[in-house]
Order: sequence, then C-alpha cells, then structure tokens
Amino acid sequence: MAEMPKISLPEQFLSLTPNIHSGSSPNHSQLLVLAEMGIQTIISVDGPPPPEKYSHLEQINYIHIPVGYSTITDQQLSDIISAIRLSQELKTGVYIHCHHGKHRAPVAISAALRSMNMIDLETSLDHVKKSGLADRYKGLKQAIHDAVPGKSLPSPRKLRKAYPPEDIIENMSHIDKLFKKLKSANKQNWPVTPDSNHEEIALLLEEKIRELKRIQHDYIHEEFETLRLHSETSSKKLTLALQAKDYTAAQKNIQALSTSCKSCHAEFRD
Ligand code: HEC
Repeated sequence: MAEMPKISLPEQFLSLTPNIHSGSSPNHSQLLVLAEMGIQTIISVDGPPPPEKYSHLEQINYIHIPVGYSTITDQQLSDIISAIRLSQELKTGVYIHCHHGKHRAPVAISAALRSMNMIDLETSLDHVKKSGLADRYKGLKQAIHDAVPGKSLPSPRKLRKAYPPEDIIENMSHIDKLFKKLKSANKQNWPVTPDSNHEEIALLLEEKIRELKRIQHDYIHEEFETLRLHSETSSKKLTLALQAKDYTAAQKNIQALSTSCKSCHAEFRD
C-alpha cells in the first residue's frame, strides 16, 4: 500500500485560542501546512533570525522578535502585542515559535495575551505547563505573573523579518557578567542568602554558551565548535554541581570553565 504523505505540524504545536498557537521552529513543509490552515502570521522569538528563504514566503508574514531565557522585557511584550494586532487586522492565525517550543514561545504568547486581557492567569499558566516550561526558568514564569492586563508598555518597534543575530561580542559580554558573578560567589564559598540564585545564574550562563553555537558568524568553524563545547560541558557540570549543592565540584568546574574561556580566546581572539 502506498504510504500516505505525512502532514505534520511542528513539534510542541499547542493552541492557546482557536487562532493562536505556539510550538517549535517549523520546517518548510510545516510552514506550508500552517499557511494552509490560515495561520499566516509567524512570530519567531528565537535568537537567530528565521532562514532567509522562509522569511520571504509569499503567503506568510514572518516576524522576528528575539527574546532570551531570563525574562520577557516590556519592549518585547509590546512588539509581540503589535504583531498579534497586525494578525487581527489581516485576519490570519498566529503561530509563535522559539527553538524547541517549550519555554520562550509559550511564555511570550501567554504573557502577551494576558496583558491584552484575552486570557486569564490560569489559562496562561496551564498553557506553559502543557508546553513543558521547566521550573528552572523562573524569570520566564515570573513574566506571566507580571503581565497584568492594562500594564503600561513602551510603544512597539517596527516589526521586522529579521533582527541581526545577537552579535558575538554582545553575547560574550553577557557571558562575562554571568561568569563574574559566579566566580565571586565561588570566592565567598557560595553564600546562601534569601536572594542568592547561583543555580539560576549558572543555567543562564549555560544557555548563553549554547547559543554561541547558533550565532551565524565567521568564527563558526570546527575548531571553534570544539572549544565552545568544552565550555558548554564545564558549564553544564557547574549547574549540576550547584543544583546538588556540591561546592567542591562547583569550584572545580569554575576553574575548568575559566580555562576553557582562555583557550578559545587564545585561538580566536588574542
Ligand atoms: C568558543 C570560543 C569562546 C569561548 C568558549 C569563550 N569566548 Fe569569549 N570571546 C570569543 C571571541 C571570538 C571573542 C572576540 C569577539 C570579537 O571581538 O568579535 C570573545 C570575546 C570575549 C570578551 C570581550 C568582549 C568585548 O567586549 O570585546 C569577553 C569579556 C569574553 N569573551 C568573556 C568570555 C568568558 C568569561 C568566557 C567563558 C565563560 C568566554 N568568553 C568563552 C570566543 C570565546
């Protein structure tokens, strides 16, 4: 028997309202399936812009509003709301996606609809739970609570098909700030205070190092990726050590990470 052609939706595809859905990065055939369903406003909140060829598909309006893992800023919220309003004018459905469709996109859309008073808090929290938002992204979850209806927001920026990829220097300066905080905590033997959040900082650092992989840049070649992976591994071990409150291991991995920053800089910067 001939196989049926597979019509597949992007992974993690979940609907928040009949017209508004979130999930993972769609591929070309999934985009066409979405367009066929009338979902023609596609918002990417992923860091890297959507591939050039997708962002120019005729039947689709692709909008890029990159967001991070630590929070949804008021500016980003305002831009997302503006994209939703545009979809309402154009009478199209909306699909908002990040990379995996579990954390940033479901949170961003829930926060936006909540601040537009289109859904209540319970529905928002239910949507991010179903999408698989991990507890460790506390700032993202907080963004939903903070998106109270009627909140005053900055005016939206011009909606664009692609914001340039976050530049490697900008990424490095985030990495640097996060790593400095961890080194200083390590020096003080990981003090536990009501507002200490070592694990969360370590996790953000890990994400930033992982993101380096997807920044399109001249630097990206095999050797760079090998060195980046060393950093990612040490950083992951550091997060795990802090989660396990194993401060001896944490200290060891701070040193390993520091060495790996230096070896990549020796190759690619100095
Ligand atoms: C896989 C390679 C790689 C790794 C790993 C890496 N870096 Fe970098 N870093 C670079 C490159 C390349 C530049 C220079 C970017 C440029 O000038 O375009 C840079 C630049 C920097 C800068 C200077 C930014 C500026 O304002 O000019 C800082 C600070 C920095 N890195 C901190 C760190 C820290 C801290 C770590 C480890 C936790 C780290 N980097 C790990 C490749 C790496």
